[in-house]
Amino acid sequence: AQRRDFRQMLLAWFDTHARDLPWRRTRDPYAIWVSEIMLQQTRVVAVIEHYARFMQRFPALDALASAREEDVLAVWSGLGYYRRARMLHRAAQKVQAELGGVMPKTAEELRDLPGIGAYTSAAVASIAFGEAAAAVDGNVERVLMRVQGWDESNASATRLRETAAEFLDAARPGDFNQAMMELGATICVPRGPLCLQCPVQPLCATRGEHLTGERKKMQSR
Ligand code: ADE
Repeated sequence: AQRRDFRQMLLAWFDTHARDLPWRRTRDPYAIWVSEIMLQQTRVVAVIEHYARFMQRFPALDALASAREEDVLAVWSGLGYYRRARMLHRAAQKVQAELGGVMPKTAEELRDLPGIGAYTSAAVASIAFGEAAAAVDGNVERVLMRVQGWDESNASATRLRETAAEFLDAARPGDFNQAMMELGATICVPRGPLCLQCPVQPLCATRGEHLTGERKKMQSR
């Protein structure tokens, strides 16, 4: 019941508060993949502009696969972490050459591509194909730790992944994953989380603990 309430509260919030982001207007796995690679180490606001430019230049997987690496890197410029762009390019070439240009449809198969790890494979599989795979990044780990009242001593990566899978809404896995990310990025932020605005506050083990965190820190400086 606890899990079901969490899902319901989180998704109701996401349905009314989700930001209207360009990659949320598509179900094209290639487009979602590009967005997830860009979002890995870069903030949403910075990604928006580059994403539009990248998709204009390489609107589909075959366009990216047949591009020269220097052109891919040029369009990527400004986003940093160029290794991501090289891996994305290489993965597109692999899909084109070995899979007939068709993206794999499961998290497990997606993981075989360069630059796609546990997080990205689950994100793409859930958002584009509706697979019930939990995508766990740093934001999601922090949300789960706070909800459960865990700290570094009892929250292993494995335990967090298992917990994320238990919380996941199997009927709406893509929305659920994005809602968790959104919650971590906008409300359950690392410092000074906005607990009063949090949709799952009634179910959070550490609710309220963070309400005065920033002020206390500021005073002790
Ligand atoms: N961070 C990583 N993936 C994201 C997504 N799909 N929406 C918002 N933030 C994200």
